[in-house]
This record gives sequence, structure tokens and C-alpha cells, in this order.
Amino acid sequence: MLWFYQDTTMNVPAIASAPRPATLDDIPALTRLWQETGLYRPYNLPEWDVAFALQSPNANLLVWEDVNNALIACILAGHDGHRGWIYYVGVTPDHQKTGLGRKIVTTAEDWLRSCGVWRMQLMVRSENSAMQDYYRHLGYNALDVTVMQKNINVPPADRLPADQEDGVSAGSIPAG
Ligand SMILES: CC(C)(COP(=O)(O)OP(=O)(O)OC[C@H]1O[C@@H](n2cnc3c(N)ncnc32)[C@H](O)[C@@H]1OP(=O)(O)O)[C@@H](O)C(=O)NCCC(=O)NCCS
Repeated sequence: MLWFYQDTTMNVPAIASAPRPATLDDIPALTRLWQETGLYRPYNLPEWDVAFALQSPNANLLVWEDVNNALIACILAGHDGHRGWIYYVGVTPDHQKTGLGRKIVTTAEDWLRSCGVWRMQLMVRSENSAMQDYYRHLGYNALDVTVMQKNINVPPADRLPADQEDGVSAGSIPAG
């Protein structure tokens, strides 16, 4: 599928291609995108997260580029055998409020639907609560649930420096 997007701002390059699956080569650009959209967390190493997504059959990390092949948006969709989830929903500031945010979410919805998922969900950090209005606008409802979390392994940020000496790279995820 090829789609063209006519930007409504004067100096923003148009989007020239359909989304494509991310590759390991996208890690620097994804890191920049996540930093400039506030999605970057030091404990979520991009090298780790991208490689983990790419080797997961139930995950789909998609990126959008402009006509100059600059990476301008991404979304990570995945399912766990029950629900679909989206993470890393980001559009570079220059391209925000031009319809691309809706496009990336509906693309993820379409992919999850094609996987057999009938209900999907996402998490919004409390410090980013303004985004709740965005997702409500796209048809999502807030649930009365508490998300609970536990570390069941050493965080990659603590693990990688030592593991790299053992030959672990962005494309090699150690078991367990
Ligand atoms: C969230 C994000 C991807 C939205 O991208 P965007 O390109 O600005 O979104 P769009 O222009 O496609 O907007 C889609 C619709 O949502 C609406 N919308 C956008 N931001 C909104 C907001 N903060 N509150 C309510 N509605 C909003 C738009 O008006 C538009 O409505 P329409 O399609 O009916 O005309 C972008 O703001 C972003 O990257 N934010 C930083 C990263 C982030 O916080 N991600 C979410 C983490 S939970």
C-alpha cells in the first residue's frame, strides 16, 4: 500500500511511503524520535527493545518516513494471546497534529485485527494524562484497573554493559 500525505504546514516534508517494519538500522533514528517525543526511558534501552520486538512473532514495530527518508513516526503493536497492546506511539513534533497520529494507531489496529485480536489496550503514564483525551478521541475508554508491575530480571540498562563483553549485541537477546 502506498499512500501520500499532503502536509498542511509550509516547511514539513510530505510522507512519501507506506509504513515499513523497523530494522536494527533504525535504532539511532528511533532513539532520537523517542527522545524528542518524551517516550525515551533510560531503563528501556532502544537497542534492547527494538531487537526484542523484531525477534517476536507477535510484535510489529512499524516506522513512517518522510520523502527524505527521515523517520517521523512509529508504533509498536503486539499481542499476548489475549489482548492487543500498543507502545511507542510517537510522531515527530514537526508532523504532529496533521493526522499521522491517527494513521499510526489505526494501522496498528488493522494489524492486530488481522492477527485475530478483538480488543486492544494501552497504558498512559499519569504524567502524560493529556494523552487520555487523544485516545478517547480515537475511541478508547479508560478502565478502572491498577496496573501492577514486578521486575523479574535485571533491567537491560544494568545488564548490557557486562553482557556485551560476552558478545551480546542489539541482535542477540540472552535467554531468561
Ligand atoms: C500522540 C501523538 C502520536 C498524536 O499524534 P498527532 O499526529 O498529533 O495526532 P493526529 O494529528 O493524527 O490527531 C488525531 C486526532 O486526535 C486529535 N488529537 C490530537 N491530540 C489530541 C489531544 N491531546 N487531545 C485530544 N485530541 C487530540 C486530533 O484533533 C485528531 O482528531 P481528528 O482525526 O478527528 O481530526 C503525538 O502527539 C505524539 O507523538 N505525542 C508524544 C508521544 C506520546 O505522548 N505518545 C503517547 C504515549 S501514551
